[in-house]
Amino acid sequence: MRTTVGIIGAGPAGLLLARLLHNAGIDSVVLESRDRAYVEQRQRAGILEQGTVDVLRAAGAGARMDREGLRHDGVELRFDRRRHRVDFPALTGGRSVMVYAQTEVCKDLIALHAEDGAPLLFEAEALAVEGATTDRPRVRFRHQGTEDVLECDYVVGCDGSWGVARKAVPDSLGRGFERVYPYSWLGILADVAPSHDELVYARHDRGFALLSMRSPSVSRLYLQVPAGTDAGAWSDEEIWDELDRRLETDDGWTLRRGPITQKSVTPMRSAVHEPMRHGRLFLAGDAAHIVPPTGAKGLNLAVGDVVTLARALTHRRDTGSGALLDAYSATCLRRVWQAERFSYDMTTMLHRDPGATPFEDRLQVARLDRISQSRAAATDLAEGYTGFPLDA
Ligand code: APR
Ligand code: PHB
Repeated sequence: MRTTVGIIGAGPAGLLLARLLHNAGIDSVVLESRDRAYVEQRQRAGILEQGTVDVLRAAGAGARMDREGLRHDGVELRFDRRRHRVDFPALTGGRSVMVYAQTEVCKDLIALHAEDGAPLLFEAEALAVEGATTDRPRVRFRHQGTEDVLECDYVVGCDGSWGVARKAVPDSLGRGFERVYPYSWLGILADVAPSHDELVYARHDRGFALLSMRSPSVSRLYLQVPAGTDAGAWSDEEIWDELDRRLETDDGWTLRRGPITQKSVTPMRSAVHEPMRHGRLFLAGDAAHIVPPTGAKGLNLAVGDVVTLARALTHRRDTGSGALLDAYSATCLRRVWQAERFSYDMTTMLHRDPGATPFEDRLQVARLDRISQSRAAATDLAEGYTGFPLDA
């Protein structure tokens, strides 16, 4: 098998990259180790930055998002039993975000592929990337029990944090940066109308809580739990009781309960791999960087990477110049580190660190209080949340 761009992984990064290349008239083949049903059901975050929404629309993948997605113009911060709303358009010159689940973005991109896109092979597991520094990089993979080789001009590792692409970068040439948090998120989906019309991020002495949603009739909620917690250890009633405590306010707000249809635990980690390129191998999305979910940046960073890469590959085809490909890693990393900083700040401002001192607890509240009192501080949060520009 031979193609121009071999893409490993059919998460949002790989699927969108294949779409952007298809629209630009560049061939690709996508290899995905899981089956289609698995990829379409995996529960992930659900906030699209303004820039991501614009990219999906321009790529022709925004029709259902525009029908079913929910535009959100702000979020609420809760602390000390108080509530403070951060108004995005007012603070950012009109920017907002869209609540539309990552799973749905993937379904839409897969459906487009099936209509007219590049070959997308499910249950095709990449085993290794070879010859990254030659003119003919290759991906060895196994599909339906048989080993095969995909010969490419370029290989892109969109294979998530545990993929194989990154392993093709020699240790002596790459560097990893990591921070592991001592807590996780217990997430639930519940068949009940969201108890608030915008997302609520709550800081409480018992730990963080988040109220989010998937639709006008489905709520998505999260609780900070100790790292290593088993989702089954929490009964439905215990989850609702704990959400009640952490989201409680002084003004009589109440949390609606409903049947819990899904429960899972997500560990929290920040990580960056530098550089994001080795010869003709490029890394994009979770393969290159992980953020804790607090800032809802994971999918949006992946989109930024593949937009930058698709532009660089198109520029190379049209002009013969590899300048944008050479700049790919540095261009992406600048934005990645801003998102890492934002996600870290949101995470450490809102979660109860088991080792925190009472002094640090008070500082957390002071940081939140500052946002509620200062337009400059609120603007910083609103700019970060709605997204760092793609063109930086
Ligand atoms: N061969 C083929 N496919 C692989 C391999 C392999 N060896 N290893 C992993 N994959 C596939 C996974 O099954 C998955 O479908 O790569 C895909 C990676 O997708 P994601 O993990 O969704 O990563 P990405 O596309 O970068 O999206 C980033 O997803 O993980 C969330 O929070 C993250 O929202 C962010 C977004
Ligand atoms: C979600 O709805 O899954 C979600 C929303 C906001 C976050 C993280 C996850 O910060």
